[in-house]
Amino acid sequence: MLLLCALGSACRARASPGPTVPPQVAPGATSGRQLKLGAAVQRARLVDARDPAYASTFAETFDSLTPELELKLEHLLPRPGAYDWAAADDLVAYAGAHRKEMRGHTLVWHRALPAWMLSRSWTREELLAFLKGHVAAVVGRYRGRIAEWDVVNEAFNDDGTWRKSLWYDVLGPGYVEAAFRFAREADPGAKLYYNDYGAEWMNAKSDAILALATRLRKAGVLDGVGLQAHFNAGWYTSGPDLAANMARFAAAGLEVEITELDVAMSSRHGSAEEKLRDQARIYGGIAAACQAQPACKQLTVWGVSDRYTWLTPSDVPLLFDAAYAPKPAYAAIRAAIPAPRPTP
Ligand code: G3I
Repeated sequence: MLLLCALGSACRARASPGPTVPPQVAPGATSGRQLKLGAAVQRARLVDARDPAYASTFAETFDSLTPELELKLEHLLPRPGAYDWAAADDLVAYAGAHRKEMRGHTLVWHRALPAWMLSRSWTREELLAFLKGHVAAVVGRYRGRIAEWDVVNEAFNDDGTWRKSLWYDVLGPGYVEAAFRFAREADPGAKLYYNDYGAEWMNAKSDAILALATRLRKAGVLDGVGLQAHFNAGWYTSGPDLAANMARFAAAGLEVEITELDVAMSSRHGSAEEKLRDQARIYGGIAAACQAQPACKQLTVWGVSDRYTWLTPSDVPLLFDAAYAPKPAYAAIRAAIPAPRPTP
């Protein structure tokens, strides 16, 4: 058993994902395609430019952005009926001006709901109508400008059963398909993803996701699956088990992406140098596995630099250090995913 500490304040014991060995793909041995590299950002840091190194590091390094907060329900709809688009609009405008793609994150999640939604009661009809209106409003507003959406986030428990949430409790499991149908209607050109953590290798959760995604792909309403990959030094997969899991999603006709990668290092004993070397090995293995799988379209890291992370600063989980110097993990990523050649 290993301890899972990455997704909550308390560590939970869980089964080991199995041996993690270096990938069988040599760094740099790519298919020649240009895999996109993305990062989660926050509007206040990117657009206000109070920290110019944040904005310049993002602009020079990454192909796409995922809003870490700004498209979540509690940010868009703090009061009933009164959408506040300002922060999301700023990020969409930034992406357009800087030729970055956007991942929309996320339409339906059990967390980041405004307090007013949780404190009132909902009938089935009311919540379904709300879901339809919300998805139509958000996806419709950014139609053609947000390339892909995490339509539903984290709907399963680790054992593959449905997670209890406002959505599930009122609407039952059908809320997932309903959300995808509404999103497809609102922007038929956007790629639609189901996104979750702990499904990076074969287990009960990834089995359940594969079954759901296969069914919704056949129904024509889902395109791919996002593997979040919030890892730490003792809990990760970056080798053949990740490659094999991605291969079975690909075989089902699904796209796959690494959507929220970070690797927390505070739990690893050893010198700072050893931690950085280990972290680089993990990052490099994940990037190589994604590059080697044609169905893997993009790799997104959950932040720009160790200066700002949802984890604790001592986790140093990202590709650039707190002073924006590239870390060994960045070199490892670039060995697998070369930077695009500048256009002449
Ligand atoms: O900005 C306010 C600040 O004004 C206030 O004083 C403070 C008091 O709590 O809260 C600040 O907002 C916090 C926000 O992060 C900005 O740091 C929220 O409370 C906090 O809930 C929010 O957490 C985010 C979390 O999702 C919930 O939305 C994390 O930054 C973000 O990294 C995390 O991202 C999730 C993905 O969406 C889904 N997968 C897991 C991943 C990590 O939990």
